[in-house]
Order: sequence, then structure tokens, then C-alpha cells
Amino acid sequence: MKKQPGWALPDLKAAQVRTTQTVNISHEQFAIPSEWHHLGIGKRFYLRTYGCQANERDGETLAGILELMGFTQSDDMEQSDLILLNTCAVRKNAEEKVLGELGSLKRLRKQNPNLIFGMCGCMAQEEDIVQLLLEKYPHVELIFGTHNLHHLPKLLHQVMEKHEKTIEVFSKEGDIVENLPAKRFGTHKAWVNIMYGCDKFCTYCIVPYTRGKERSRTMEDIIDELNTLKAQGYKEVTLLGQNVNSYGKDLHIEGGFAKLLTETAKTGIPRIRFTTSHPWDFTQDMIDVIAKYDNIMPFIHLPVQSGDSDILKIMGRRYTIEQYKNLFDAIKTKIPNCAFSTDIIVGFPNETQTQFQHTLDIVDYCRFDNAYTFIYSPREGTPAANMQDNVDFQTKQERLAQLNEKVNHYAWENNQKYKDAIVSVLVDGPSKKNPNIYCGYTETNKLVNFERMDAKCGDIIQVKIVACKTWSLDGIQVKEK
Ligand code: SAH
Ligand code: SF4
Ligand code: F3S
Repeated sequence: MKKQPGWALPDLKAAQVRTTQTVNISHEQFAIPSEWHHLGIGKRFYLRTYGCQANERDGETLAGILELMGFTQSDDMEQSDLILLNTCAVRKNAEEKVLGELGSLKRLRKQNPNLIFGMCGCMAQEEDIVQLLLEKYPHVELIFGTHNLHHLPKLLHQVMEKHEKTIEVFSKEGDIVENLPAKRFGTHKAWVNIMYGCDKFCTYCIVPYTRGKERSRTMEDIIDELNTLKAQGYKEVTLLGQNVNSYGKDLHIEGGFAKLLTETAKTGIPRIRFTTSHPWDFTQDMIDVIAKYDNIMPFIHLPVQSGDSDILKIMGRRYTIEQYKNLFDAIKTKIPNCAFSTDIIVGFPNETQTQFQHTLDIVDYCRFDNAYTFIYSPREGTPAANMQDNVDFQTKQERLAQLNEKVNHYAWENNQKYKDAIVSVLVDGPSKKNPNIYCGYTETNKLVNFERMDAKCGDIIQVKIVACKTWSLDGIQVKEK
């Protein structure tokens, strides 16, 4: 299909560029023009979000805007008038899932000719994906990206009232738009963006192109949001950024992330988490602040990606494995009860058996509580995608299996330490499998399934651990100490 006037299509070259232009922060009150207010009345939307917490948080904004327009959220696709897929582009299999879903959903159009299919999120930022949608998935009528969620009312108006296929994807990041509505999906745990985008440009990663340059929110805006959440009764907040350690560098905020963490701790919210920290710019100040405040949880996601310094260099990670170990040791020394998770990629182009062995070695060294492990997936437009690769896929799969075995072993071993311990648990509610058993998380982010006395969703209670499995602990609620 030929480009239509009015479309803004993604542009990979533009997405690769960084400008020094300052980012405007808009505090204008978000309002939906009255002529579009009725658009969703009596209509239902179905929203599915893939990918990371940043995308989950965007999903809350999208749902908030749609409800302001009169839509109601539904978990039944068959009964919906708008199906919106908020997508992730980080690996090919994430994309394949979405394309498979879009293909199989086409049949719903026959039942309801007015049904609108929309795609947003990181896949919408990809030039080749949008071309593919235009050629092979003509039933997708609404495509918008990660930089213009606040345009959703206008875009929906175009599709619903004017019956025009609508594509608006900006490859250059726009303003930071404060004051957007949000329908928080959690009742006691909330996500809080502290910054958007990423400027690290790890050579395998598409995120800097789909999310634009690093932009921090102001400390005042973040603390305001945190205080509001606290007043609403939220017990846990997770500060979000692709690399939270970079917080404030663009705004020249003195003290950066360590300062923000301190101010966050002072709000008195019972549980504070953050993700993700890049090992390159994790400072001693940050370690000290995490150690100082009891309401900053002793759990750190510290993606290592590879255990081999040569591979790390080609990945553009900016640290050697020795530096990673030193950081890990420094955190452990200061915060002995700290739990760690990590991300690891196997089968990066030309990874040798010895280099892979180094990855196994770092897992032995750090004994992670959890690790998210992936087979390298080439991403169009990234430097690594142009590298010749002499490792066959079967070898990569075998390496992943071997790595996972080790990861599982340490997850199990770490959990054994909890036998007979009494731990604090923030209660999520009844467990999925058995409504009589409740579940929640420890401060160190361990899932606990427990027999309750009087625990309710959102309470922080004490649980005695009686059995320790690889990915969860079993326990019994006990009285406060
Ligand atoms: N900003 C976060 C990561 C976001 S992506 C950070 O730097 O920690 C989440 C994880 O996906 C990454 O840590 C990496 O392990 C993995 N990943 C990213 N690009 C990938 C690719 N092309 N192939 C395989 N895994 C990838
Ligand atoms: Fe991707 Fe690296 Fe940025 Fe994380 S820090 S989002 S892995 S480029
Ligand atoms: Fe995926 Fe985009 Fe997040 S690519 S991991 S949804 S930033």
C-alpha cells in the first residue's frame, strides 16, 4: 500500500540520530476535546501489553485515556470494539507472537465489521514492521508509536469517524508529557516512570531506536506522583527507566539517581524498587543510599549480559567482567542480604565455547537469585545485526539449556536459606492455583505462597517459611513479632 498523505511512518535513520535539542516538559492539563468525548460511549476495548515494565506503564496510560473517552475495558476480545496490541520489539520471538496473534484475530472482523485493530508500542516504531503490516495485515487500521500516546483521541477519531487508516509514528522523541491520565492496574503496587528512552546503544539492542533519547522527568514531578500514590494507599513503587542510574544527567540534577532514591525513601512509601540499573554507572553513592533506607528493597536487577570481557566490549556494555565482579562485591559487602537477578544473552555473534564458559563462570561467581536468559536475536538497524555469525542455532540452544540448568540450581540453592525463616510479605491476594492459598513477595522479591490468618491484599505481614522450591517459597502467616 502506498504512503497516504497524513501518515507519519517510522524512519530508522531518524531514530538512530541523537540531537542536542532540549526536551520540553509539558504540564498542560490533558483534556479530550468535547467533540471526541462520545467516541467510546457504549464501546469496549481490549488491551494486551507485551514486553517490559515501561510498556506496562504505557498500557496504564492508554487505558486511562480510553476510559476518559467513555470506553470500558474488557478481557474478552470477541466482545470488543477496539483491540489494541501494545507491542515489544526486543527479540524476534516477541514480534512473532504479536504477528501470529494479529493473523489469528482477523476472523473477528467477520463477526464485527466495525471492529478496530490497533498496534502501538515498540514494534510500531520499526520501519520494516509497519511495511509488513501495510502489505500483509490490512485489517490493522490504527498504528501509533511510543512517543505520542497522548494523541490517541485524535487518532481514534480519524479511524472511527472518518474511517481512515491512521498511522502516526514519530521517530524523533517528542516532549515529556506530564498529567496524562492513568488507569493503574495494581491496587497496592505501582510503576513510576522516572525517565524515558536510552542512550547506551548496546550493539544488539533496539530499545534506543524505539524509545528515543534519554529524557528525565523532574524530581518535583516524580515526588508529586509518589506522594499521590502514597496518599492513595500504594505500598510499593517501582521506579522505571531503561537505565535508572542515568537519571537526571540530561537535566544536570545534582546527585542524580542517588538523590532521587533518597527523596523517594523519604516519602515513607513502605517498599521502593527500581529497574533497570546498568552496571557501568552504578555509583557507591547509590549503594550507600540503598543500604541506608529500610524501605529501599534489598533486591537489584543487574544485567551482566555476558561473562566475557571481549564479548562485553563488542556488545558496547562499557564494563569488563572484573569491573562487574567488583561492583557485585561492593554491593554484597554493604548490603549482605541483597538478592540479585540478571539478564544474560547467549550466542552473541561468534561467541566461542571459552567465552560461553566465562558466562557460566560469572553465574558460579554471583550465584544469582534469578536470571532472564535469552538467545541473541539480530535486530534490524543495530550494529550487531551486521556482524557475521559463525555459531549455529543448535549450539546456541544447547548453551541456553546448559546455562538455564545452572541458573535454576542457584535459584533453588538461594531459596534453601529461607527454610524456617520469618519474612515480611506484601500480599498480592489469592494465588492463581488455589484460592485458599495467598501469595505475595518478600523484600528480596521471592514469591511466597502461604496459608493465611487474616492477610488481605496490600497488607505487609509476617510469614514463616516451611518449604523452599526453585521459584517460590511456601509458608504460614504468623502473628507480628
Ligand atoms: N534497559 C535494560 C534492558 C532492556 S531489554 C537493561 O539494559 O538492562 C531486556 C533484556 O533483553 C536485555 O537486558 C537483554 O538481555 C535482552 N536483549 C536485548 N536485546 C536483545 C537481543 N537483540 N537479543 C537477545 N536478547 C536481547
Ligand atoms: Fe538496550 Fe543497553 Fe539501553 Fe538496556 S542499556 S535498553 S540493553 S541499549
Ligand atoms: Fe520491548 Fe520496547 Fe520494552 S522493545 S523490552 S517493550 S522498551
